[in-house]
Amino acid sequence: KKIAIFATGSGSNFQALAVAAQSGSLNAEISLLVCDKPGAFAVDRAEMLGIPALVISPKSYPSKEAYEEEILQKLTGLEVDMIVLAGYMRLIGPTLLNAFEGKIINIHPSLLPAFPGKDAIGQALAAGAETTGVTIHYVDEGMDTGPVIASASVKITLGETRESLQKKIQRIEHSLYPEVLEELLNGNEEAVQWEKSVH
Ligand code: GRF
Repeated sequence: KKIAIFATGSGSNFQALAVAAQSGSLNAEISLLVCDKPGAFAVDRAEMLGIPALVISPKSYPSKEAYEEEILQKLTGLEVDMIVLAGYMRLIGPTLLNAFEGKIINIHPSLLPAFPGKDAIGQALAAGAETTGVTIHYVDEGMDTGPVIASASVKITLGETRESLQKKIQRIEHSLYPEVLEELLNGNEEAVQWEKSVH
């Protein structure tokens, strides 16, 4: 199967998926990185990994529809089967949702439905939560609202800082995302209804 990964920022999850695909532990081809932020580190990673990148700024288009139409054309041309969001800081609109119905997934750094939206890690710390985690879910028109596929929990320990918590969460993301995607591509939807916990 052919995958397009959408990222806005650092792209560490994009890299984890690409490395898994290149090493064979993920049986997929990462055909394209779509990045909506020129200069993002994800684009440098794509270059290092030898993966084509579509760097596309929504500001250059008259509407979200026109922006997504341009992306859709590229994805169609490459015969992409699935869209994997990895730190893409934008809601997916009807153009892409309709074209890839049930074929867009996202990873979010909290146990949804807790702490959706921006800065989920900061939200969990500010709320004094004892546990947070990572959720992989299908994407719908809402913000972090689609059906959950898999989650992993992370304990927030005494003296936890944003940096230490982010590190724990990212470590889990980088193993969970390729693993879950592999199961989905194999049609093992039930197999990924698991929960993990890390202390
Ligand atoms: C990840 O923590 C992901 O859960 C969230 O955005 C972050 C992206 O990090 N949606 P990176 O760009 O993959 O390093």
